Amino acid sequence: MILTNITRRYTRIDSWFYDRFIADAVLAGTASLVEDIVAAVPAGGSVLEVGSGGGQFAVRLAEAAPALRITGVDLSREQVSRAAQRARHQPNVSFQAGSALDLSFPADRFDAAVSIGSIKHWPDQAKGVAEMLRVLRPGGLLLVVEVDRGCTLRDARSFVARFRTPRPLRAPALMGFRTYIAGQGLDLDDARKLVAPLAFTDSRVERTPADPMLLISGTKAGSS
Ligand SMILES: C[S@@+](CC[C@H](N)C(=O)[O-])C[C@H]1O[C@@H](n2cnc3c(N)ncnc32)[C@H](O)[C@@H]1O
Repeated sequence: MILTNITRRYTRIDSWFYDRFIADAVLAGTASLVEDIVAAVPAGGSVLEVGSGGGQFAVRLAEAAPALRITGVDLSREQVSRAAQRARHQPNVSFQAGSALDLSFPADRFDAAVSIGSIKHWPDQAKGVAEMLRVLRPGGLLLVVEVDRGCTLRDARSFVARFRTPRPLRAPALMGFRTYIAGQGLDLDDARKLVAPLAFTDSRVERTPADPMLLISGTKAGSS
């Protein structure tokens, strides 16, 4: 099971389960990320999503900004195929299999790089974030969202209430979320340590209001 072996590759069942019960709850909290990317990336610009899962966020971004070119990378071929199916009517979105730790793109390739709920699965989180920064052009925007290990019970409960699980399963889902998902997420110190060695002109680590999430954001140093 993915939650008891967090760096294991998502199987077909893991991918189905995440898509069916959880992905929409995550997507509901990403409106501000779409706005940030649209504000930062000019028309015709390119965006990388790392750990793109079933493609929900990439499709949402593509609908909001049809002039952007969006590439999703995910370790799981099952997820890539779900994402490709979901984005079949979006000509500006594509997905490929690959690891966050070894991105198959040249340096300075993207105007923005985003990752949502994926970093907790990476066996070397510092390497993955450094890879995202490498493929970002100077002045490009980096956004990493992960579940906050220090989240309040109230925020966790309202997030789990958005899962598509039947109501009687909410209590066990909340326990599972706190133990295996938030419990293996990032806390503020982890996130600050990840950002500290990297070349940003500005960077922030913050809790997202009313959601059990942390957001790392930054602009890659160097002139664009
Ligand atoms: C919790 S899901 C999040 C999916 C999507 N970002 C979302 O918000 O719906 C985590 C995703 O990260 C992917 N993943 C895990 N380890 C990875 C790695 N090392 N490189 C790239 N993707 C990875 C998984 O296959 C999975 O699709």
